[in-house]
Amino acid sequence: MQTDRPEATKPARLAVLVSGSGSNLQALIDALESQQLPGAQIVLVVSNKADAYGLQRALKHRLPALYLPWKQRAQSEQQLVALLRLFEVDLIVLAGWMRIFSAEFIEQFPRRIINLHPALIPDDGSGATFTSSDGSIIPVFRGMHAARQALEAGVKITGSTVHYVTPEVDAGPMLCRQEVPILTGDTEDKLQERIKQVEHSLIVEAVQLWMRTA
Ligand code: GRF
Repeated sequence: MQTDRPEATKPARLAVLVSGSGSNLQALIDALESQQLPGAQIVLVVSNKADAYGLQRALKHRLPALYLPWKQRAQSEQQLVALLRLFEVDLIVLAGWMRIFSAEFIEQFPRRIINLHPALIPDDGSGATFTSSDGSIIPVFRGMHAARQALEAGVKITGSTVHYVTPEVDAGPMLCRQEVPILTGDTEDKLQERIKQVEHSLIVEAVQLWMRTA
């Protein structure tokens, strides 16, 4: 029998980790404020940079926002774990977070850390190539400056992926992704900006998907 019951989701107390402008954090804040993420809330925003604009965005919306210096990884990770436990965080969203976590840190939060990466990553996260919707085989651009890497490689399609974080950088299983065409005359900035436009809905979709995953 069909019922009108909404699809079950688990509650999600989110920590959003940022290092820069935080436009994707803003997309999450906007989605929460417009009821697109029922059952979710941002309980903590952390930045490794004191001047990250993402912290200002959080404070404007009265969200707890902390600067956590990142000089010595083991120590900073310990402090972060304590914060995440204190704020009873269910899901850690890396939205422009520019620090690499140790395997020990990641293993404490299995399937509870997701990362937004501005390139196309295969379903299982592994491998050196990705087959796009038009059938072209493109390299997987991991690490820094993914948009620049795509331009330099001369590919016609790139995109963005939200994936689970595993010890291998930008190589965890995919939650969702979207392609972005590369246009004639694209510069790194222009392309990165168009990727971000796509990311602002992708990051919201990723949290929705995570909440529906048992
Ligand atoms: C995004 O493009 C994301 O894919 C990458 O860093 C950028 C963060 O942008 N990891 P913002 O700080 O959310 O504006």
